[in-house]
Amino acid sequence: MKRHATLGQSPPPALTASVDGATVRCFFPTTSRTLDAVPLYRSSRWLTLAALAVMGCGGPFPQSTLAPASGYAREIDGLFGTVFKLMMLVFVVVEVLLLFTIIRHRHRPGAAEPRHTHGHTVLEIAWTIAPALILVFVAVPTIQTIFKTQAPAPADALKIQVVAHQWWWEYRYPGGVVTANELHVPLGRTVDLEMTSADVIHSFWAPRLFGKRDVIPGHTNHIVFAADSIGEYMGQCVEFCGASHANMRLRVLVDSDTAFAAWTAAQAATPRAPAKNSVEQRGQDAFRRYGCIGCHTVTGVSTGIIGPNLTHVGSRTTIAGGMLPSAADMLGKWIENPQGVKPGALMPRMGVKPDDMTALVAYLQSLK
Ligand code: CUA
Repeated sequence: MKRHATLGQSPPPALTASVDGATVRCFFPTTSRTLDAVPLYRSSRWLTLAALAVMGCGGPFPQSTLAPASGYAREIDGLFGTVFKLMMLVFVVVEVLLLFTIIRHRHRPGAAEPRHTHGHTVLEIAWTIAPALILVFVAVPTIQTIFKTQAPAPADALKIQVVAHQWWWEYRYPGGVVTANELHVPLGRTVDLEMTSADVIHSFWAPRLFGKRDVIPGHTNHIVFAADSIGEYMGQCVEFCGASHANMRLRVLVDSDTAFAAWTAAQAATPRAPAKNSVEQRGQDAFRRYGCIGCHTVTGVSTGIIGPNLTHVGSRTTIAGGMLPSAADMLGKWIENPQGVKPGALMPRMGVKPDDMTALVAYLQSLK
């Protein structure tokens, strides 16, 4: 078979190839040979495969279950390791037998036809029992892990209510602190997340800390875990919940005991009233005038409960369900056009005038 490509001369220019003496137009895969005839296509196919193969080698991997940071996550990682080793063993045994058979029983010139067999009772029993046993070896540790990771929380666990909303997370701490999207937990202490939803089914997952669990309206699900290293752990909603499901992110911040105590005390405090005639004061006026108070709570100022509690929004590192870093320009962009950042977001465009926007952003940022 001759394989080469030539570019046609006269209009319309067409890439053609000669296959077994016939001329075919390339990139119109009318036969399986058409594409095969173009060396360029074949090399790009290998390049694509190579690119796909190395694509997973980059980093960093902020949501890797292979870097567990809690007992819960380590249980899952351990189970994955056990099953993976078992599967590798099965793979090696099957491949060795396959290669042995292919080589040992390959066709040789002049060889007699092999003996035909119909049914082999011992073999058939063996290859029924072996997979059943393998499934038992997978099932036992799996069920053990399910029970371990679903165990009820100890009485002294820190209970935090998680309420899922389209498309952000609300956290309610004992003592009345309410915040959004960034879950603070103390290092080493067992935390019991009591999770429910205000609208549709969502699912809560920070892969380095715990397995995913559905968050269902009218029902309370739990995640019980104790983080074992200080840091910031990324997560997100993992159940399709509408237009901005992919924009429903979360962070778990594991603090030292003292940092957590300080954070809790700061969150529980009523924010200081802005100084008279300051830009923050004008911002607070705008917060009232543009109707923000209808949906958002700021302790001492408003009692809205539709959107996130903003009492200490200035202390968060992100806004808009974890979509944007908390910076003045980002806050302005978000308030100016919420749907541009998060399609389907319930916050309406309030048409805030530029002067008022500067003041409003300054006010929100002052809510530390
Ligand atoms: Cu919430 Cu997907």
